[in-house]
Amino acid sequence: MHLASGITWAAAVVGLAFGRPTAAAAYYDAETGFTFSEYKAACSLSATITYRVAIPNDAYYGQSFDAVLQVVAPNSVGWAGLAWGGGMVSNPLTVGWANGNTATVTSRWANSRSTPSLYTGNSLQKLSTGNRANGTHFQFTVLCSGCTQWTGSSGFQTNLNPQGSNKFAFACSGSRPSQPASNTSSFPYHDAHSYWSHDFSAGANADFANLVMRNGGRPSVL
Ligand code: HEM
Repeated sequence: MHLASGITWAAAVVGLAFGRPTAAAAYYDAETGFTFSEYKAACSLSATITYRVAIPNDAYYGQSFDAVLQVVAPNSVGWAGLAWGGGMVSNPLTVGWANGNTATVTSRWANSRSTPSLYTGNSLQKLSTGNRANGTHFQFTVLCSGCTQWTGSSGFQTNLNPQGSNKFAFACSGSRPSQPASNTSSFPYHDAHSYWSHDFSAGANADFANLVMRNGGRPSVL
């Protein structure tokens, strides 16, 4: 047991130090009640962004299932984005930033490596909990319906695996969006990006739909 956790810890440290993919760990969030699979990504030497994903425990591969994404970032981060398919192009991008005492979240899609457009192929709902900005950090928590299955420009359908690891990518910038209150705002090019393997099984939740509703969301499957 001790040996196993030692190996996991060592792998996590090596993964962070060299930017290599690392499996996500389980994190229970007392505020929302979700158990998330969590990964910490280095945006700069001093800024770490936490990406968390919670899913239903009865989701199966090949089906579009809802996912709750929670992102926590220090205020030195101007925007933080997640690429659900592990690259910038042809997959759902979820991007958020601080806005006053809360966060703005936007759904985007890029057909090339240039500013992503607004994406309407999925639905993002900010939950009534887990969205804030204060003197040190900002945090957003959204329910995404349509982030785990999508069709790319070639017509090829991608399905994420609820029981295993999925290739993720993130990007971030130290500079801020031009209109922070608006989810249609433009935002500057990233300063950093990287990839990892996110183990969804660590964030499987029994009674997921009820948890979503308790946090003010409308699940796509009841
Ligand atoms: C202002 C908007 C953006 C611009 C102008 C932009 C532009 C670019 C450019 C020019 C590259 C190629 C650079 C290189 O290979 O060194 C790149 C790569 C990349 N970008 Fe962006 N980007 C933007 C937003 C985003 C967002 C929102 C995400 C994710 C949420 C993202 C994720 C990535 C990733 C992961 C790569 C590495 C190559 C790949 O995996 O496709 N980008 N971007």
